[in-house]
Amino acid sequence: MNSFPSFLDMVKTRQSTRDYDTRPVEKEKIDRCLEAARLSPSACNAQPWKFIVVEKPDIRHELADAIYDRVLSMNHFTKQAPVHIVVVRERANITSGIGQMVKGIEYPLLDIGIAAIHLCLQAVEEGLGTCIIGWFKQKKVKQLLSIPKNKRVELIITVGYPATNEIRPKKRKARKDIVSYNRY
Ligand SMILES: Cc1cc2nc3c(=O)[nH]c(=O)nc-3n(C[C@H](O)[C@H](O)[C@H](O)COP(=O)(O)O)c2cc1C
Repeated sequence: MNSFPSFLDMVKTRQSTRDYDTRPVEKEKIDRCLEAARLSPSACNAQPWKFIVVEKPDIRHELADAIYDRVLSMNHFTKQAPVHIVVVRERANITSGIGQMVKGIEYPLLDIGIAAIHLCLQAVEEGLGTCIIGWFKQKKVKQLLSIPKNKRVELIITVGYPATNEIRPKKRKARKDIVSYNRY
């Protein structure tokens, strides 16, 4: 496991990995990533998620086919990733559901995003790379993994050892453009 001087260093090290080594990933490492996701917060503690770990090569390759968009030439890299974690949205509890109705905020989507980043940051600690994928063929993924029709896959996260140790500079808006104090 890597140890980072600070949390911010870990955040700076996380990046979307789109080039993976063929090395398999140890189960304990995946378990710790899932544990980080399991412990993440959610509105009304609803925990509206299920994580399907796909590591069997034949299923993984079919899943990668369901992610790859030939037309836009997107997400071809997922074929290389030794592990895919498919995040299924589950029913939230009643309080979260009422909150969503009253406030018009889709809490389960926020919850899943937060859980996903917990998972990805634990992966950094484990020396693993990840990529959060939001562009895939919903129907094909569900059919392949026998996910019930009334559920939705919100994200897929690829996990594996990065092929290179290079950390790319982050392209982000300047702080002055995204932060204000005391008024908009
Ligand atoms: C909700 C979400 C969906 C994303 N979907 C994809 C995707 O389908 N394919 C992809 O290559 N990257 C995807 N990304 C990764 C983003 O492109 C990436 O996080 C962003 O460009 C910043 O780069 P970094 O992660 O390397 O810091 C997604 C990220 C998020 C948070």
